[in-house]
Amino acid sequence: MCGILGYVGPRQAAPLILDGLRRLEYRGYDSAGIAVVADSVEDRVIDVRKAKGKIERLAGILDREPLAGTVGIGHTRWATHGVPSDANAHPHTDASGRFVVVHNGIIENFHELKRSLLADGHVFTSETDTEVLAHLVAEEYDGNLVEAVRRAVRHAAGAYALVVMSAAEPERIVAVRKVSPLVVGLGDGETFLASDIPAVLQHTRDFLVIEDGELVVIDAAGATVELIGGGVVHRPVLHVDWDAEQAEKGGFEHFMLKEIYEQPAVVTETVSGRLEASGEVWLEGVGFDDAFAASIEHLWITACGTAYHAGLVGREIFSRLLRIPTSVEFAHEMRYADPLVTAPSLTVAISQSGETADTLAAARLARSRGSRLLALTNVVGSTLSREADDILYTRAGPEISVASTKAYSAMLVAQYLLALRIGRVRGVVDADLSERIGRGLHALPGQVEAVLGDEESVAKAAIQIADAQDVYFIGRGLDYAVAMEGSLKLKEISYLHSEAMPAGELKHGTLALVTKGTPVIVVLTQGAVYDKTMSAVQEVKARGATVLAVGYEDDSSIGSFADDVLRIPRTDDLLSPVTAIVPLQLLAYHVARLRGHDIDQPRNLAKSVTVE
Ligand code: F6R
Repeated sequence: MCGILGYVGPRQAAPLILDGLRRLEYRGYDSAGIAVVADSVEDRVIDVRKAKGKIERLAGILDREPLAGTVGIGHTRWATHGVPSDANAHPHTDASGRFVVVHNGIIENFHELKRSLLADGHVFTSETDTEVLAHLVAEEYDGNLVEAVRRAVRHAAGAYALVVMSAAEPERIVAVRKVSPLVVGLGDGETFLASDIPAVLQHTRDFLVIEDGELVVIDAAGATVELIGGGVVHRPVLHVDWDAEQAEKGGFEHFMLKEIYEQPAVVTETVSGRLEASGEVWLEGVGFDDAFAASIEHLWITACGTAYHAGLVGREIFSRLLRIPTSVEFAHEMRYADPLVTAPSLTVAISQSGETADTLAAARLARSRGSRLLALTNVVGSTLSREADDILYTRAGPEISVASTKAYSAMLVAQYLLALRIGRVRGVVDADLSERIGRGLHALPGQVEAVLGDEESVAKAAIQIADAQDVYFIGRGLDYAVAMEGSLKLKEISYLHSEAMPAGELKHGTLALVTKGTPVIVVLTQGAVYDKTMSAVQEVKARGATVLAVGYEDDSSIGSFADDVLRIPRTDDLLSPVTAIVPLQLLAYHVARLRGHDIDQPRNLAKSVTVE
C-alpha cells in the first residue's frame, strides 16, 4: 500500500508533489521520491530525488538540490519487495534514465521477468519488483509511450497502479490500474494523478475515478481514459464536496470504518505473489529450509490483544492442517512463565506494530531457548522484524484506528499461507488440499466485499445492543476464536461490558447471568460442531436471551433459533474467520457510534503498547 502522485501543468511540480505525498503518507512512509522532467535543457532529461525514511528527509534533500520542471511523479512507499532503502525507494528508471515509473501493488511474476531481462543484458539497481516495469516499458518503446505501457503491462501479473513518465514524450504521463486505486484530478490547465482523492483535494474537486483494467493519459489539458486492451472509456466527472477531515478518511466518518472497508484489498495484497494456482506458496522473508520445516516438533504463537486472537485462529489452522502441537500464549504471560520451549520449534510472534514490548520480550525468550523466531508483522523494519530469523509481512498498510481490523484479517491470511508452506514440505497438505485452500483464499476478497455490502443489517442489529449492560459472545473452535475478537472490538470502542467464551463453557457458570433480553451473539460456521453450538443457543434462549447469530447465507436452520442473523457467504469452514469477523467489526463500530464515543481513539488505549 503505497502513495502515488503525478502532475502536468504550469506550476513547479516538485513542491506540489511533495505536499501531496505528505497527505498520502498514511499509505506508507518508509521511503519517498520524486522525478521531474527537467525543463531547462533541449534534450530533456529526468531528474530523480529519493530517500529512505519519512517524507521530511526527502524535503531536506529537495531544499539542497531542488528539482525544476512542471511535469513530475512522486511516491511514498510501504515496502513489500526489498527493504526500505534509498535504492529501493521509487521512482525507478530504466538503465538509460529516460523512462521512469512509480508503482503501488505487487508484480507477482517479477522474478521471471527480471531473470529474462537480466539475460537480455539489463542492469538493475534495486531489489524491487517495480524496477522491472521501467525496463519493460523501455524495451517496448518504439516512439509511442501509451503503446509501450500497454505492451509492458501485458507481461506483468499481479495488482498495480503504475504511473509512467518519459523524457521522450515529456508533456504527458501514462498510468494503468489493475486493482490498486488511482484517480485523476482535473484542474484549470493542470491535471493530477493520485492514489487517493485527499492527496490533491486542495487543488481540485473534480475527479475521474480510474477503474480496474483501465489506462489513462494525462496532459495539462485533461485526461483520456481507455481500456488497457484498447477502446475509449467515457468516465463522468465526480465532483467531491468533502471537507478536509472527511477527505483524510477517504469520505468515511472514521478511520476504523475506512480500514474495515479496506479489508478486501488487504486480503488480496497479503496473498498476492505468494500463492500459485497450484497451491504452491512462496513467502519472501521466510528463509527456513525444507529440512527445518520437516523437523518442527512444536509451534508456539505469542502475541497480545487482537494479534493474540489472530493467534487463536492460527492455532486451529496449524493444529488441523499440520497436526503439530501448537500453543498460543499471551506474550505478557509467556515472558514470565518459564515456558517449555525447546528446539526444534518455531515461534510465531504476531504483532501489527512489531513494537509491542511484551511480544518482543516473549519472542526474545523463545529464541534464547533455541526456538526459531518468525515475525508476523505489518511494519517493515520494526524491532520484531529486525530480531527475527524469518519475517512474514502482512500487507495491511498503516493502520490508524486504535481498534485493529484490517491488520487482524491480514494476520489470519498470512497464517493460512504459512501453514500451506510448512504443510507441503511435511507431506500433510497434499496438492489437492493446498489447491482447495488456495482457491478459497483467492475468493475471500469478494466474499468480504459481499459482507460489507450488507452493512445496513448490521447497523440495525446494533440498535438492539446499544443500550445493553452486558453482551456475551459464544462459539466453538474457530468460531470461538472469532467470538473473542468480536467481543474485544465491542469492549474497546463501545465501552460496553462483554465476554466471549466457548459455547460449551456457558453452563459451567456464566449462564447464571443470562436473563430476559440479555444479548448473546453466537458465531455459527463450523459444521463439525454446529449441533453442539446450537444446544448452547437453546440454553440461552430458554433463559430469555436475545440471540444474534453470524452464519452462512445458505444456513436454513439458524433463522428458527436466532432472533436476528448476520449472513456471510459460504466458505470452507477453515477460512470462515476472515469473513465472520467482518459483521462483528461493523457491529462494534455501529454500537460505539450510537453510544457517541470517540471511535478512532478510545479512552485509555494506545495504538502501540511499547511499555510493559
Ligand atoms: C485491539 C488492538 C490491540 C493490539 C495489541 C497488540 O484492537 O489493536 O489489542 O492488537 O495491543 O498490538 P500489536 O499487534 O501492535 O503487537
